[in-house]
Amino acid sequence: MTSSLGNTASSRISASSSPGVRLSLHPPSSFSLLSFSSSFKPFAFSPLSSHFSPHQRRSAVNVSSSRGFGTVASPKCAASNSDQLKSAREDLKQLLNSQFCHPILVRLGWHDAGTYNKNIEEWPQRGGANGSLRFEVELKHAANAGLVNALSLIQPIKDKYSDVTFADLFQLASATAIEEAGGPKIPMKYGRVDVSGPNECPEEGRLPDAGPPSPADHLREVFYRMGLNDKEIVALSGAHTLGRSRPERSGWGKPETKYTKDGPGTPGGQSWTVQWLKFDNSYFKDIKAKRDEDLLVLPTDAVLFEDPSFKVYAEKYAEDQETLFKDYAEAHAKLSNLGAKFDPPEGIVLDDTPVQAVPEKFVAAKYSTGKRELSDSMKRKIRAEYESFGGGPDKPLPTNYFLNIIIIIGVLAILTSLLGNY
Ligand code: HEM
Repeated sequence: MTSSLGNTASSRISASSSPGVRLSLHPPSSFSLLSFSSSFKPFAFSPLSSHFSPHQRRSAVNVSSSRGFGTVASPKCAASNSDQLKSAREDLKQLLNSQFCHPILVRLGWHDAGTYNKNIEEWPQRGGANGSLRFEVELKHAANAGLVNALSLIQPIKDKYSDVTFADLFQLASATAIEEAGGPKIPMKYGRVDVSGPNECPEEGRLPDAGPPSPADHLREVFYRMGLNDKEIVALSGAHTLGRSRPERSGWGKPETKYTKDGPGTPGGQSWTVQWLKFDNSYFKDIKAKRDEDLLVLPTDAVLFEDPSFKVYAEKYAEDQETLFKDYAEAHAKLSNLGAKFDPPEGIVLDDTPVQAVPEKFVAAKYSTGKRELSDSMKRKIRAEYESFGGGPDKPLPTNYFLNIIIIIGVLAILTSLLGNY
């Protein structure tokens, strides 16, 4: 299959609003894709507005390649193949454990799905998990700054498994990253159909901003449009327990902190938690405490403990990791299905998650005491005699027959012994 990303090996991406930053795609298989020129001036945790104009924020990434990710349409629009999905999952685990790229793969899945608009019925106009994020036109949206690196990382896996759609691969990568980082098992299904061209990408502006004037209203506006509720907004925000924010990508976060200066992966950025490759409930504990200058709290994070409805869930998750895991797994699965068209319509489930407990079949031999079984011919003989007295498999012998037989046998036995004495 012709790779839609294969032509990008030599593409270079530069952040036009900060000329000192160069995002190089050489080599594409490495996670260390970011390099800074000495002219880049780091700045501390602060909102975008003080460093970028709104225009600069919108055009933070400029893809200069003439043959970018989106210039070649995927020739395959059919759904994925179950065996290939399983093998791709194993390859993703290896990638995650060698490149420590869990966070960016979660963000990739979220940004493909998060464009969904429940008020539009038609596919693919409604947006969502349909693989459109592979196209240059969508990758260039300011909110997707840096995600070109995630695509480079998974491209070799896409090339290996041509029957796995981009839409499925993005969601498989994200769910596998959560699970491999110690998070809950996500009840996923696959079979998402890919959009086939850049003309099917959603318009810019469907994903949330981190610093809007009224964060709670903004989050509700964006997530309600996706058909998600307050509980799901809070649970999904918990994904920020993983990863870092990088000023040269989103404009948010410090260039580095004591928790990020040594990597793993490309060093730098500001994380929300100390162990930012581990999925747990520390995000909720840390954004509540706001005690550590080196940990990030975006306005849209802080509001989870300020808005009365969000706060109920945020407090719960800070206390109770089990509830977070349960709610997160459900919300993540729902997010991953937004806007998706499945082939087959019911989707493909990879894991043998027991839908309903099937009672174990009784196997007599398993409980055998070691006594020998009767041979089949002996069983047939006994059955024939039994039936000759009027019995059968579903028809017990009448009690009087039994009694008569026992009496006859008893009388015969006594007579035999008496006669034997003479
Ligand atoms: C609630 C609204 C959200 C806002 C405003 C938001 C904003 C951001 C921002 C500004 C970054 C930093 C990007 C960068 O500089 O590289 C980021 C990173 C991230 N986001 Fe969100 N996000 C939101 C929701 C979500 C959701 C729902 C998920 C997943 C379910 C998610 C997963 C992530 C992850 C894992 C990273 C780290 C990426 C990395 O380390 O490369 N976010 N987000």
